[in-house]
Formats: sequence, C-alpha cells, structure tokens
Amino acid sequence: MKTTENTIDISAIRAEFPILHEKVNGKSLIYFDNAATTQKPQRVINSINEYYSNTNANIHRGIHHLAEKATAAYEESRNAVKEFINANEREEIIFTKGTTDSINLVASTYGRANILEGDEIIISQLEHHSNIVPWQMLAEEKKAILKVIPINHEGELDLNEFDNLLSNNTKIVAINHVSNTLGTVNPIETIIAKAHDYNAITIIDGAQSTSHIDIDVQSLDVDFYAFSAHKMHGPTGVGILYGKRSLLEAMPPYQGGGEMIKEVSFKETTYADLPYKFEAGTPNIADVVALKPAIEFINEIGKETIRQQEHTLLSRITQHLNKIDGLEIIGRAKHKVGVVSFVIEGIHHQDIGILMDNEGIAVRTGHHCTQPLMQCFDILGTTRASFAVYNTIEEVDQFATSLQKTINMLR
Ligand code: ALA
Repeated sequence: MKTTENTIDISAIRAEFPILHEKVNGKSLIYFDNAATTQKPQRVINSINEYYSNTNANIHRGIHHLAEKATAAYEESRNAVKEFINANEREEIIFTKGTTDSINLVASTYGRANILEGDEIIISQLEHHSNIVPWQMLAEEKKAILKVIPINHEGELDLNEFDNLLSNNTKIVAINHVSNTLGTVNPIETIIAKAHDYNAITIIDGAQSTSHIDIDVQSLDVDFYAFSAHKMHGPTGVGILYGKRSLLEAMPPYQGGGEMIKEVSFKETTYADLPYKFEAGTPNIADVVALKPAIEFINEIGKETIRQQEHTLLSRITQHLNKIDGLEIIGRAKHKVGVVSFVIEGIHHQDIGILMDNEGIAVRTGHHCTQPLMQCFDILGTTRASFAVYNTIEEVDQFATSLQKTINMLR
C-alpha cells in the first residue's frame, strides 16, 4: 500500500480488503456502513489465523513456550494502543469487550464508589444509548441526577447551556467525541477543561473517532477514554478503556475471577496490579493480538490522509443529496467526520435500506441506538451513509444514482 503526502492510492488500499470485492445481489458491494463496523484488512484476518495456527495458549499463567509467545503478543497490542493514544503508561490501557463494556466498567466501579445522592452526571442529547443507559442506571441506584446538554438544529452541542448545567454538584461528564448518527465532532478539549473547573471527571466515548481523529489522552487531560477495535479495522469483541492511573488505582474491580487477583483465601482476596485488576478471566486474546495490525494499517496511511479522503466523500455526497427533492440532511455541523444521515419526505427509511441493498449498497437505517436524538428531531429514524478510507468518489456517485432510482420507485 503506497500513499504519499496528500495523495492516496485507494486501489492499493482496497486490495487489502477481500470483502470489498464481494458481489451483493449481483452488484459490486458498496459498503457505506462503516460507523456500525469497519471492514478488516487482510493483515488483521491473517493475524487471527496466525494466532490460532501457531500461537494459541492462555496468557499470563503458563511458563511454556506458547504461553509466553501468546502473552508477549497480547501485551504488544497493549503497547501499540498506548502509543496510538499517547497514554503515559501501558498500565493505563485496559482491554474490555467493547466501548459499551468500557463505559459500563467506569459507571459500575468509579460511579458506584463515588456518586452519592444528589450528585449530578452530565451527558448530551447526541449520545449513543451506551453512553446514556449506564448513567441512568447509576443515577437511579444512587438517587443522583442526570442532566443533558441540548443541541442546536445543526446537531452541535450548546456549550452555553453546558455552562449553565455545570455546578459544584457535577461529578461526571460523559460525552461522545463524534456522534455516530450525525457525524458531529464535539469540542471535547473545551468540555474536558470546563468539567475540570468543577472537579468533575470526564469520560469520552471515542467509538466513532479513533480511526479518523488523532487522540492524545495526555494533552486532552481526559480522565477516561473508551473505544472499540472493530470501528478501526480491528476485530469485534475488543474494547479499550484508557484511564488515568490515579483513578484506576483507586477504583474497585469490575468483575471478580482469575487473573485479577494477587492472593485469594476464603477470608480475604487482594487484587492484582493494573491493568490486570480489570481483566478478570481469559480475555479475547486472538482479537486483542489482531488489533495491533489494525493500528499499523491506520498509522501507515496516516489520519490526516484518512480525514482528507473522507472529507472529499462527505462533500461529494452532500452535493448529491442537496439536489434531491424532499430530502433533508439531519446534522449539518461545521465539524463532521464522514457520516451523513438523512430523511426523505413520505418515504420510510427502512424501504430505502432494503432497496439500496438490492443495488449492493450497505447503509444503516433506523434510530442508530440514539432514540433521544431522534426524538429531538421528531423523527423515527434516518438513512445513514458512513465512510471509511477505502470508499471512493465513484461509489458515492453510484450511491446517488441508486438512491434517486429507489426514490422514483417508492414515489
Ligand atoms: N453504534 C453503531 C452504529 O452507530 C452500531 O451503527
């Protein structure tokens, strides 16, 4: 795969993704559902195959050759994640099942230990259910109060209203970096700084950001940052929770079991050091190992180049959609990643999804696990196209042609 500064060899990138050469309903697949999950390059697929063919053993407990090889590969992935987000220490990287699991970990451990009756937790109107429900559950259990930052019609957070919501009662601010439904990039630097002015801790849901946006957890000064491997060309079933060491050290464990202990007796158990205190049981070793080549794939292309490509696609699709009668784009934030959601007057989004699939085009339709956001726009759902670096202008043009054909059939 060759990319030079400001130019990108998309066909070389596409050649790494076997699934992109599939036919769907007799048509060449156009995969525009990257916000749901990204496709995997051959090196990630090979890594999983290689792991089970030549390495498979349980980690951290054996002294035999394979156990040591598997442990080293697993821990190398932790090092790669540390570098990827510029964490200060590898012990601040916890492997989980996914972003949802990472957020639940913080709500169940930090939240249960620190939130008291009357404390306030601030989230936003833009959140995915996974950054709403764990805080609702915590608030209910602790008799705490959940407050919501509203958005404007463009789908941007109202930061003046955020200022009004903040108080000395604010204990946690939990916000996504990028909205999965609208593509809005939130000003998390400002949000984190404002939360810290009130000594609140911050957790950022980075599920939709890590494949396009540079993440430096130290310069952000974020307390927790949660993300998933599968949204950045890695395998499903692997999440990451970054947490500041001081916070992680003070938190009780999430789950009890093997691996997370120092000493167990029937009288008392002492817990393992970081990061193992939060990694009970046998983890998803093969998929954690395969996260490293996914990170290498992104680093080889470079996020600036990825952003440029996705921005080109977003501009092109926006031009096309603006020309379609009765179509409204939901979410027109100034800062967006390559995600576009829209509704069409008189046509149900599900019908669009089904007919686009007949054309070999994968888009997501529905509420995108953001029902409160749909309620805010007074809609039931949208059709959403979301891009990755391997998508092309030709695909966007084909999408526009197929969408118009679909609309003509449904009207
Ligand atoms: N959260 C994922 C999406 O937005 C599943 O599609």
